Amino acid sequence: MSLLKCSILSTAMVVIPLISAPAMADENVEVMHWWTAGGEAAALNVLKENLEKQGVNWKDMPVAGGSGVSAMTALRARVTAGNPPTAVQMMGFNIKDWSAQDVLGNLNDVAEAEGWDNVVPPALQEFSKHDGNWIAAPVNVHSTNWVWISKKALDDAGGKAPTTWDELIAMLDTMKANGITPLAHGGQAWQDGTIFDSVVLSLGDDFYKDTMIDLKPEALGGDKMVEAFDRMAKLRSYVDDNFSGRDWNLATAMVINGEAGMQIMGDWAKGEFLQSKKVPGEDFVCIRFPSTQGAVTFNSDQFVMFDVKDGLAAQKKMASAVMDPNFQIAFNTVKGSVPARTDVSDEKFDDCGKKGMADLADAGKTGRLFGSMAHGHAVPDGIKSAIFDVVTAHFNGEFDSKTAAAELVDAVESAK
Ligand code: GAL
Repeated sequence: MSLLKCSILSTAMVVIPLISAPAMADENVEVMHWWTAGGEAAALNVLKENLEKQGVNWKDMPVAGGSGVSAMTALRARVTAGNPPTAVQMMGFNIKDWSAQDVLGNLNDVAEAEGWDNVVPPALQEFSKHDGNWIAAPVNVHSTNWVWISKKALDDAGGKAPTTWDELIAMLDTMKANGITPLAHGGQAWQDGTIFDSVVLSLGDDFYKDTMIDLKPEALGGDKMVEAFDRMAKLRSYVDDNFSGRDWNLATAMVINGEAGMQIMGDWAKGEFLQSKKVPGEDFVCIRFPSTQGAVTFNSDQFVMFDVKDGLAAQKKMASAVMDPNFQIAFNTVKGSVPARTDVSDEKFDDCGKKGMADLADAGKTGRLFGSMAHGHAVPDGIKSAIFDVVTAHFNGEFDSKTAAAELVDAVESAK
């Protein structure tokens, strides 16, 4: 039995639907997702309303927990029980894993009729297709190498956004001296991992590729990795005492309410600023993590359709609604992400969104677009978890940097 099948069968968890839409509609979708924070829920609502207008009854199946860790556990339980949801929010290597289990539906009809092949970037198609068949509809592209800075805290610290590691540290020191928590962070493995994406990338594209994608032992355990862990330890020193277990959106709220100076987080954080009526450039500033400018560590949320009885018509409507260019604008301007199609204008996007779209296009052209390790687009789930374990143990002071680099080599090797 494969490792994946083993873990699918070993989980038992019951999830209860929280919201049911009116019963008059004749087509139904039950949608499993982890979009429960303010900006996320607002964005998802756009899709729900679009589908309800088309007579598709939306049964909401939210499973809270950043980056979908809990949602993926709940999904395994549902599939094991022989009762998969109609559609599931999913990312990267999780999509590949489920494709290999032969339990997904096929969206080729819609994809062909709507020409998805020509508008979805190849880096996303890599995950949306299995054996040449479309099995998922990508709703967005996020990226993880961003920093979200309070404009007031930035101004109080001299006003110039940091572009290098040394400038970042100088600014964090000034914010500390100014009496605020310099770095808002939530101590959860995926959040530690999200910072790690940026820190590794800041030491060079090749280093990111060698370690997070190609998993070369000599790079995973080398001097540069020790330096990456030193950088993680340095960042850890700017986090407040209560960071352990904090949800990411609560960390964003600390920046929004002026308690903290900045957060290193993917662009879903922008959704939270927008929900609080904060304006980019006026209330907050978005920059690429220092020394990663021009490169992008991306992840894409996709809706995967399970092979369910009597669900196909509604699934096709949902897939089509997800890929609709106007929907991609309406959704992504709220969510903080950018469209999963290359033919959408950036006109309606704010400055951070415009920058996100331009960065993504440029990074694609220059070969500087990399899958995010922390958000499942660089390595399979088991290896991601092994990396998380080491990164979090080190972040919490269990390992020094040298030990962490050595542990990383072993952890990755045994997860392969
Ligand atoms: C990411 C996902 C985003 C957002 C975030 C926090 O993995 O791509 O859409 O939901 O997690 O949960």
